[in-house]
Amino acid sequence: MSLQVGIIGTGSFSKLHSNILMEMKDVTLKAICGTSQKKAEQMATEFEGAIGYGHLTDMLEAEKLDAVYICVPPMAHGDIEKELIRRQIPFFVEKPLGVDLETVNSIVSQLEGASLITSVGYHFRYKQSVQKLIETVENMQIGLVTGQWMGDMPQVPWWRKQDGSGGQFIEQTTHIVDLLRYVAGDVEEVYASYENRVTENKYEGVEVPDVGTVTMKLKSGVVVAISNTCMMPGGIGQVGMSIYTDEGMVEWDPNHLKLTGVAGVLETTLDSDNPYTKESEAFIHAVRTGDTSKILSSYQDAYETHKVTCAALESSRTGMPVKVN
Ligand SMILES: NC(=O)c1ccc[n+]([C@@H]2O[C@H](COP(=O)([O-])OP(=O)(O)OC[C@H]3O[C@@H](n4cnc5c(N)ncnc54)[C@H](O)[C@@H]3O)[C@@H](O)[C@H]2O)c1
Repeated sequence: MSLQVGIIGTGSFSKLHSNILMEMKDVTLKAICGTSQKKAEQMATEFEGAIGYGHLTDMLEAEKLDAVYICVPPMAHGDIEKELIRRQIPFFVEKPLGVDLETVNSIVSQLEGASLITSVGYHFRYKQSVQKLIETVENMQIGLVTGQWMGDMPQVPWWRKQDGSGGQFIEQTTHIVDLLRYVAGDVEEVYASYENRVTENKYEGVEVPDVGTVTMKLKSGVVVAISNTCMMPGGIGQVGMSIYTDEGMVEWDPNHLKLTGVAGVLETTLDSDNPYTKESEAFIHAVRTGDTSKILSSYQDAYETHKVTCAALESSRTGMPVKVN
């Protein structure tokens, strides 16, 4: 039987996930919910058979959905998840989980004891190169990790507002923090230094910092520094992570994995797979069968990543190190 799926949001990532769902066997993209009926109906014209709705409850009352994808900006989380949990509808939600801890805490509390299937869009976890990275460092002693998300400022209006996106570290660099946790373990303490150097004078209404470095101590004792900027011109960027170990250096970016040891470059892996397809396949498989083993980021696990990025924001404001509880 075909699974009936709904999508919330009508932006770029709703379309990306809709396109993936349209290619899947025995999956029907049944409904799209936007901030207005008009926007939702407009997007529905691009996906044959889908119906547009202007309100979440209208969509959930009218359709019997097996799963819902939540692809809304960070500030729009909260009521959507709570309504889906109340109705026991499994959901896939794009990162980040929110702009602060409060909303996300209350969703986590509501999920307790609900045994609902959830999945979060930390897509790097699904890349072959990341699985290979984990195998590579498994028997090495990790000492230090550095990471970065260097690029330009996304031009959607919510991104430049502190209470719209949470800022770059919460919105974007969260991918690197999540990867760090996945590969090297949980974070104990963070200290962050943020500044706005350029973009507040260049664009209207910019409230978020455009440069920052966060130093961290992991529970294992590993020391980490992750930096980000969104002040560069479009088209220039650097996203990735380097791990320094007793056996050498392991460098990862979304397309490569390189291992350098005493004998020089030992291995380079090229990776051009599509992790977005894999993460959706894992979620849909779980909804269809109840087997959640292929989901690599549940809501509760993503919450641990969100705690780190929110602690970094707090540290940048207080100028003090913050323990991650
Ligand atoms: N995993 C990734 O690689 C990746 C990449 C890009 C974006 N994202 C994430 O996806 C999310 C959406 O990003 P986007 O690029 O699609 O943004 P976007 O601005 O293009 O689209 C957001 C859409 O959500 C709609 N919306 C806002 N509040 C809503 C609500 N309460 N109900 C229904 N619709 C609502 C907006 O009208 C808009 O259509 C963000 O959290 C972003 O971080 C993830």
